[in-house]
Amino acid sequence: MVIPRLSQASLQAAVAALHAGEVVAFPTETVYGLGADASNPAAVQRIYQLKGRPTSHPLIVHVGDITQLPQWTRDLSPAAIHLATAFWPGPLTLVLRRDAAVNTVVTGGQDTVAVRVPSHPVAQQLLKAFGGGIAAPSANRFGHVSPTCVEHVREEFGDDVAIVLDGAGCEIGLESTIVSCVGEVPQLLRPGAITLSQLRAVVPEVTSVVDPNAPRAPGMLARHYSPHTPLKVVTRGDLEMLINQGRQRGGNLAVLATYLPPNTLEGIAWINAGTRPDAYARNLYANIRTLDKARASVILVEDVPHEEGWMAVRDRLRRAAASE
Ligand code: TXA
Ligand code: MG
Repeated sequence: MVIPRLSQASLQAAVAALHAGEVVAFPTETVYGLGADASNPAAVQRIYQLKGRPTSHPLIVHVGDITQLPQWTRDLSPAAIHLATAFWPGPLTLVLRRDAAVNTVVTGGQDTVAVRVPSHPVAQQLLKAFGGGIAAPSANRFGHVSPTCVEHVREEFGDDVAIVLDGAGCEIGLESTIVSCVGEVPQLLRPGAITLSQLRAVVPEVTSVVDPNAPRAPGMLARHYSPHTPLKVVTRGDLEMLINQGRQRGGNLAVLATYLPPNTLEGIAWINAGTRPDAYARNLYANIRTLDKARASVILVEDVPHEEGWMAVRDRLRRAAASE
């Protein structure tokens, strides 16, 4: 694999923009982030404006390495230190007590702050050259599908974001695992590539507030990661039934499945995303974006296995399917 790196000129332009209070989109190993100087409240405010995101939704502060933690946090628990040491740099975000100096624009007014050390070489280059923390949510409009390449960021923001750093794609493709370390025991808040078992191998007490298999009232599901076309998750049996119904009615259908279509199906945009959870996750948002352009009345997604390795994918599919 080619390791993406920024030229000195792009790096300097990005760092200068951050110092000037501008936003810069940059790749991480999970998804693209829309970054601003985390210690500049006006710059951080600009992220919320661009995304159309409520200011009560806190952002993640990205830092270059673990030694910067004390600048942002206080009262670190041994569990937090163990998790950070084990998984950073990498796709893990820790929610920690914030240092008094951290501005409340980043934290959405909370007494806690989310921190992550990304491993993507371009993110690392940028953070090391900038020196400070970069506040960054995923680089998409509020509630929409996260971006995993430069073209996706352009689709979301056009010329509103002047600098979009190219990182040759995101290896993981889904947002980081989030663990809160502020309560009695660490709690998994958002599933990601680092699984509950991997977390528990380091800190056995980690609990999960995320149960992707538990039925929930639709109102409790925040609509998120959503395409414009309605998306439905269905069993393989229902998928085939719905395709037959759809063909009788006419009109286009879009399908995301783990297998090839049985035969050529006119009017159906079909993506076979395969049966490996890591590859499925890496391509998920690009696949949803492609199917969203198929002028279909609905995107039908074949349900994925109820296994730990699929937990993050299941979580994102449920949210993409939620109607509110
Ligand atoms: O992989 C990722 O985490 C990507 C890349 C760019 O790092 N970022 C990302 O950011 O997904 P965003 O803003 O789309 O999602 C961050 C999540 C939000 O759900 C937010 O509520 C939660 O982190 N969060 C941030 N600060 C928090 C805090 N203090 N307490 C609880 N949750 C927090
Ligand atoms: Mg997001």
